[in-house]
Amino acid sequence: MTDKTGWWRSAAIYQVYIRSFADGNGDGVGDLAGVRARLDHLADLGIDAIWFTPWYPSPMDDGGYDVADFRDIEPLFGTLAEAEALIAEAHAREIRVIIDIVPNHCSDEHRWFQAALEAGPGSPERQRFWFRPGRGPDGSEPPNNWKSRFGGSAWTRVPDGEWYLHLYSSRQPDFNWDNPEIRTEFEDVLRFWFDRGVDGFRIDVADGLVKDPHLPDVDDGDETPFSDQEGLHEIYRSWRKIADSYGGERVLVGEMWLADASRAARYLRRDELHSAFNFDFLVCPWDSARFRDVITRTLRAHDEVGAPAAWVLSNHDVTRHVTRYGRQEDTGFSFANRLHELPVDRELGTRRARAAALLTLALPGGLYVYQGEELGLWEVLDIPDELRQDPVWARTNGTDPGRDGCRVPIPWSGDEPPFGFGSGGAWLPQPAEWKAYTAEAEAADPASMLSLYREGLRLRRTLPAGELEWLSPGDGVLAFRTGPGFTFALNFSATPVPLPPGELLLASGPVDGELPTDTAVWLRS
Ligand code: GLC
Repeated sequence: MTDKTGWWRSAAIYQVYIRSFADGNGDGVGDLAGVRARLDHLADLGIDAIWFTPWYPSPMDDGGYDVADFRDIEPLFGTLAEAEALIAEAHAREIRVIIDIVPNHCSDEHRWFQAALEAGPGSPERQRFWFRPGRGPDGSEPPNNWKSRFGGSAWTRVPDGEWYLHLYSSRQPDFNWDNPEIRTEFEDVLRFWFDRGVDGFRIDVADGLVKDPHLPDVDDGDETPFSDQEGLHEIYRSWRKIADSYGGERVLVGEMWLADASRAARYLRRDELHSAFNFDFLVCPWDSARFRDVITRTLRAHDEVGAPAAWVLSNHDVTRHVTRYGRQEDTGFSFANRLHELPVDRELGTRRARAAALLTLALPGGLYVYQGEELGLWEVLDIPDELRQDPVWARTNGTDPGRDGCRVPIPWSGDEPPFGFGSGGAWLPQPAEWKAYTAEAEAADPASMLSLYREGLRLRRTLPAGELEWLSPGDGVLAFRTGPGFTFALNFSATPVPLPPGELLLASGPVDGELPTDTAVWLRS
């Protein structure tokens, strides 16, 4: 495949959540065979790379983020040989392949955790994790007050009385990165997959690997002892050396939910990670001034370290953005408050999602497209409780519905479920209305979301690259130029505004001399 220098600086990367993408063997769960059969959809869409969420053997307590073996493929998904074939087939279409790596924790079924349980207190096997005695006279209180991000305590007690740390579910024990064995192991895992042709890694919980070894109690909302610890930089410097030792520009992408953009940018210095997701953009409420502020701060922080920004609207952890933007009260997103009970105006959400797509595609840097976003899918809010799988649902005693609603298998064709997903149903129920949202139906409709993404991704390659320069056409209108001859405008205000001058290249909705509310345009100016 061609070796375009700096490909990752402006890449459009498509996120495949494997078990919900396409089912090749008819068991109701997506798999590698399904992905291989659908690669042409991705080639036609015009993306540069795929990011696969974890494909490793896993008991699926957390959708595969509980990894039992970092050097193999989950049998439900296929085999290592199929993964190698898939990588080659993607490469043949000039599509690069990024895979998820989950270095913060493993599954409780991982052989190292099983060995730690067996070996008992004080053993070297337990040093690979965070085992501690409990507090209180009989050790029946957890070692500190840290909370699991999925609800409840971050500690679980084992029969011999010790406790182990898990920032996520109790089936995801955290590795102890102070132990050199963990470092060597993951360096070897990186090489294992680089040797098999992957072009990069998306690093799960990239800010969390290193803990303050004193494990101090925290005040509410304080994440310092288990996030953004100085020792992380050294780990990523060694990972970068490994990536750079391979040809073809292999990349490292961090998943980091850090509040401070400048702190996050420190991980993007030239000898560390290549890029990180911009979640400030994802959580930004539908407001022109707020978007302008987020974009300005993001570009400034990235410029300081010479790294490209990476824009993202949705992923497998957050409420789909058609639904978020369809809520009048607050269209932002927070994990602590998913706003599931608020009414959703889907038409409004879709109009805004179309405008947001054109914004994302016009900004300098790279971007992510989460599977189904290109079809305009929304969050499925009415999954029956007994079918919910996300551990968040159980760990919060049902107060947080969890993330299943953005993980429903996507519709490909036909008039009824499972809409061409596979021949054996779908592991989560799809809404009947998705009949009008299949890839097949949308491909035939020039006004569909799919057509907008295809056209936007195609035209984006022809846009001049340059610094973003803000324009101020009026209150509530976000407008900028990037490079000579290209103008972007999005009207967030409640009334139509005059169109900025230029020849119309692409519009997110009908435009008739004026720029209507919640509509974006690309202009040659
Ligand atoms: C990341 C993943 C999420 C997972 C968590 C624990 O945030 O995106 O899906 O549950 O890490 O691995």
